[in-house]
Amino acid sequence: MQKESWNSMSIILVTLSFLFVFISQNVFSAPSSRHLCLPEQRDALLEFKNEFEIGELSRYCYSVGQPKTESWVNNNDCCSWDGVACDTKSGEVVELDLHCSRLHGMLHSNSKLFRIQSLRSLDISRNDLSGQIPSSLGNLSHLTFLHLDGNNLVGEIPSSLGNLSHLTHLILGVNRLVGEIPSSLGNLSHLTYLYLGINRLVGEIPSSFGSLNNLYYLDVGYNKLSGSFPRTLLNLTKLSVLSLSDNQFTGTLPSSLFTLPSLESLDLGNNQFNATLELGNISSSSKLKQLRLGNNNFIGSIPISISKLANLEGLDLSYLNTQGPVDLNIFSHLKSLEDLDISHLNTTTTIDLNAILSVLKRLVVLDLSGNHVSAINKISVSGPHSQSITGLLLSGCGITEFPEFLRTEHEIFYLNISNNRIKGQVPGWLWTLPELYDVDLSRNSLTGFERSTKHRLSNVPKPSMEFLLGSNNNFSGNIPSFLCMFKSLRVLDLSNNNFNGSIPRCMGNFIKRSLLVLKLGDNQLSGKMPDIFLSGRNLTSLNVAHNQLVGKLPRSLSSCSSLEVLNVEHNRINDTFPFWLESLQKLQVLALHSNEFHGSLQYHPKVASWFPQLRIIDISNNSFTGTLPSDFFMYWSAMSLEGNSSELKYIGGDYRFYQESLVLMNKGVELTYPMILTLLNAIDISGNKLQGEIPKSIGLVKNLIVLNLSSNSFSGNIPSSLANLTKLESLDLSDNKLSGQIPPALGSPHKSIQDYSFSQPAHRSDTARDTVSDPRFLVF
Ligand SMILES: *[C@@H]1O[C@H](CO)[C@@H](O)[C@H](O)[C@H]1NC(C)=O
Ligand SMILES: *[C@@H]1O[C@H](CO)[C@@H](O)[C@H](O)[C@H]1NC(C)=O
Ligand SMILES: *[C@@H]1O[C@H](CO)[C@@H](O)[C@H](O)[C@H]1NC(C)=O
Ligand SMILES: *[C@@H]1O[C@H](CO)[C@@H](O)[C@H](O)[C@H]1NC(C)=O
Ligand SMILES: *[C@@H]1O[C@H](CO)[C@@H](O)[C@H](O)[C@H]1NC(C)=O
Ligand SMILES: *[C@@H]1O[C@H](CO)[C@@H](O)[C@H](O)[C@H]1NC(C)=O
Ligand SMILES: *[C@@H]1O[C@H](CO)[C@@H](O)[C@H](O)[C@H]1NC(C)=O
Ligand SMILES: *[C@@H]1O[C@H](CO)[C@@H](O)[C@H](O)[C@H]1NC(C)=O
Ligand SMILES: *[C@@H]1O[C@H](CO)[C@@H](O)[C@H](O)[C@H]1NC(C)=O
Ligand SMILES: *[C@@H]1O[C@H](CO)[C@@H](O)[C@H](O)[C@H]1NC(C)=O
Ligand SMILES: *[C@@H]1O[C@H](CO)[C@@H](O)[C@H](O)[C@H]1NC(C)=O
Ligand SMILES: *[C@@H]1O[C@H](CO)[C@@H](O)[C@H](O)[C@H]1NC(C)=O
Repeated sequence: MQKESWNSMSIILVTLSFLFVFISQNVFSAPSSRHLCLPEQRDALLEFKNEFEIGELSRYCYSVGQPKTESWVNNNDCCSWDGVACDTKSGEVVELDLHCSRLHGMLHSNSKLFRIQSLRSLDISRNDLSGQIPSSLGNLSHLTFLHLDGNNLVGEIPSSLGNLSHLTHLILGVNRLVGEIPSSLGNLSHLTYLYLGINRLVGEIPSSFGSLNNLYYLDVGYNKLSGSFPRTLLNLTKLSVLSLSDNQFTGTLPSSLFTLPSLESLDLGNNQFNATLELGNISSSSKLKQLRLGNNNFIGSIPISISKLANLEGLDLSYLNTQGPVDLNIFSHLKSLEDLDISHLNTTTTIDLNAILSVLKRLVVLDLSGNHVSAINKISVSGPHSQSITGLLLSGCGITEFPEFLRTEHEIFYLNISNNRIKGQVPGWLWTLPELYDVDLSRNSLTGFERSTKHRLSNVPKPSMEFLLGSNNNFSGNIPSFLCMFKSLRVLDLSNNNFNGSIPRCMGNFIKRSLLVLKLGDNQLSGKMPDIFLSGRNLTSLNVAHNQLVGKLPRSLSSCSSLEVLNVEHNRINDTFPFWLESLQKLQVLALHSNEFHGSLQYHPKVASWFPQLRIIDISNNSFTGTLPSDFFMYWSAMSLEGNSSELKYIGGDYRFYQESLVLMNKGVELTYPMILTLLNAIDISGNKLQGEIPKSIGLVKNLIVLNLSSNSFSGNIPSSLANLTKLESLDLSDNKLSGQIPPALGSPHKSIQDYSFSQPAHRSDTARDTVSDPRFLVF
C-alpha cells in the first residue's frame, strides 16, 4: 500500500493502542467511598486544575464529555472526583486520569501536581498541553503509568524520567519532542510498554535499552532516528511488538532478530535498511504475525525461509528490489495471510492474480502495484476465495481491463487501479458496492461511466463514497449527474479529461456537506460556474482551470470559509476583481490568470480582513485597467510579515489527496510547482492594461519571491522601495513605459543577478547579466 495511506492507517492503529492501554489500566484502582481525601492533596488538585484553561476537545478523542475537572469543587471528597482515585487504606490520591479533558496550557515544573507524591498512575494524554515535559516529573517516584501522548509537548525527554523506577508504562507519543532518547530510560527495569512514536526524536536507540528485560512493547516509529539496527534490542526476550518504522535507520538486519522468541509484530517499514534480506534460521514455531519490511532499500530475492512463518497475518515486502524473477509459491504456505503488500518488487515475473487469490484464501487486502499482473478476469465469481476483499491495489500493473470479479466483492472499500491502460466504460455495478469509500481510477484510458445505477444509488441512505479520483482519462460528454448522489464525497478529481457541458448544479449536494477538494480543471466545460457554493464550509481547494467557463465568479464562493486555493485560470470568466473574497481567512492562492476580468483594482479594503493569508496572486492576462492605488501593496500581510521558516510546509501537505500544483511564470519561463510551498510568495499582474506609477508600497511585501508587472502601461520611475524586496528571485518589469534605475540593492553581488528578468519579451533568451549592462534594457 502507498506510503501516505499507511501513515494515516498506522496513526489510527496507534490511537487504538492507546485505548487498549486505558482499558487495561482502569482496573487498577477504584475510587474509595469511605476515605475522605487528604486536605493538602485536595488543595493541590484544585490549584492544579486552575493551572489550565478548558479548551477544545483534542482531535485524538472520540467522545465529547464534560471535562473531568469541572466536577472538582472545593467542599467535597476529592476521592470522588471524576478522574481521581485514592488508595482505599490511606486515602491518598494514587490515580489521576485526565485523558481527553480539554486541558489547555503548560505543565509547569512548579505545578502543584508534583505535591501529590503518592501518585501511581498519571494520564494527561490527548489534551492540549504545550511547553516542555518538566523534569520534576521524575520526582513522582511511585509512578507506574505515565501517559502524556497526544499533546503539543516540545523540547527533550527529561532524563529524570529514568528515576521513575516503578514505571511499567511510559507513553509520550504524538507530541513534538526533539533531541535524543535519554539513556537513563534504560534504568526502568520494570518497563513493559514504551511508546515514543510520532515525535521528532533524533539519534540512535540508547544501548542501555538492552537492560529493559521486561519490555514487551516498543514503538519509536515516525521519528528521525538513525544509525544501524539497534542490536541491543536483541537482548529483549520478552519483546512482542517492535516498531522502528518511518525513521532513517540504515544498514543490515541481524538475522537473529527474526528468532526473538516472543516477537509477534515487527515493523521496520519506511527506513533505509539495505543489503540482502536474511531471515536466518527461523523456526516454524515463530509467533510472528505481522512483518513489515517495505519501503526500504533491500536488494535480492524474497528469502525462502519466509514460508516457515505459518502464523503470518500481515506481510509487507514492498519495494524489495528483487532484480529478477520471484517465486510466488513461497507464499502458498502462509495460510493465515490477510494482508499482503508485495508492490514494486522490480521483478521480471508476471504475477497471476488468480493464483494468489486462490491460494491465499484469507486475504482481504492485496497490493500488487508496480508489478506486471495478469489474469485479472480469470477469477471465477463463485471462486475458491473464501474471504471478501476489502482493499485491492493494482496501480501501474499494466492491466487493460476493469477487474470484473470485484462485482461480487461486497466488502471492498479501497480500490486503486490507477496508472494502467484500462479502456472502455467504468461499469455501473461499481457504484452499487455498498462499502466503497476510496476509488482511484486516474491515469487510464477510460471513456465514460456506464449508466443504469442511478436508481439503486438513490436508495442508499448514506453512500459511503468519500474519495473519487478519475483524472487523466479520456472521459467525455457531460459530467454524470449520478455522482451527485455521493453526498459524503470529500475529494472529487475529474481533471484532465474531455468532459464538456456545464458543471452540474447538483454538485451542491456534496459541496454543502463534506467536500474538501474539487478538481475539474483541464476539461472542456462551458457555461457559467453554477452558484452552488453556499455553505461550502469545508471546501479547501477548487480548481476549474483550463476550461471554457464564462460569466461571473459565483458570489456564493464568499461563504467557503475554509477555501485555501481558488484556481479558475484559462477560462473566459468576465467579471471584475473579486474584492468580495477579501475576508476568506484561509485563502492562500488566487489564480485568475487568462480570463476576461476587467475594471479597476482601486479599492479601499476593510483592512482588518484583507486577504489575510494570500501568498500567491496571479491575475495576469486579463483586462484590468486604471492605476494601482498607492496603498495597493500595504495589506498583504502573509507576504509582508517575516515568515517563520520552521513552519515551512506545503499547502495541504497534511492531506494525502490534496496536492496542489500551479504554473507560474518565473524567470521568464513557465514553471510548474508540483505542490505549493507556503513560502512561495508571488504577485503576477502582468499582461493587463494597468497604468500610472508602480506604488512605492511595493517595498512592504518583503517576502515576495516572484514579482511580475510586465506587459502593462506602467510609467514613471521604478520605485526605489523595490530594494526592500530582498528575497526576490524573479522580477519582470519588461514591456512597460518605466524609466530610471534598477534599485542598486537588487543588482548587488550577494544575489544571483541571473535570476532577474528585465528583458523585453523578444529578448527572453538573453542572460540577465547581458541585459543589465545593455542600455536597451534599462528603459523598461
Ligand atoms: C523535584 O526535582 C527537581 C529536579 O528534577 C528538584 O530540583 C526538586 O528539588 C524536586 N522537588 C521535590 C519536591 O522533590
Ligand atoms: C533523578 O534524575 C536526575 C537526572 O537523571 C539525576 O541527576 C538525579 O540524581 C536523580 N534523582 C534521584 C533521586 O534519583
Ligand atoms: C541511570 O542511567 C544513567 C544513564 O544510563 C546511569 O548513568 C545511572 O547510573 C543509572 N542509575 C541507576 C540508579 O541505575
Ligand atoms: C543483556 O541482558 C543481560 C541480562 O539479562 C545484561 O547483563 C546485559 O548487559 C544486556 N546486554 C545489553 C547489550 O544491554
Ligand atoms: C547501505 O547504506 C549505507 C548508507 O547509505 C551505505 O554506506 C552502504 O554502502 C549500503 N550498503 C549496501 C550493501 O548497499
Ligand atoms: C536451525 O534451527 C534448528 C532448530 O530450531 C536446528 O535444528 C538447526 O540445526 C538449525 N540450522 C542451522 C543451519 O543453524
Ligand atoms: C530493477 O532491476 C534491474 C535488473 O533487473 C536493475 O537494472 C534496475 O536498476 C532495478 N531498478 C531499480 C529501481 O532498482
Ligand atoms: C494509488 O496508487 C498510486 C501508486 O501507488 C499512488 O500514487 C496513488 O496515490 C494511490 N491513490 C490513492 C487514492 O491512494
Ligand atoms: C480519446 O477520445 C477521443 C474521442 O473522444 C479519441 O479521438 C482519442 O483518440 C482518445 N484518446 C485516447 C488517448 O484514448
Ligand atoms: C464539514 O464541516 C462541518 C462544520 O462546518 C463539520 O462538522 C464536518 O465534520 C465537516 N465534514 C467533513 C467531512 O470534514
Ligand atoms: C464582459 O461582459 C460585458 C457585459 O457584462 C460585455 O460588455 C463585455 O464585452 C464582456 N467582455 C468580454 C471581453 O467579452
Ligand atoms: C523598507 O522597509 C523599512 C522597514 O519596514 C521601511 O521603514 C522602509 O520605508 C522601506 N523602504 C522603502 C524604500 O520602502
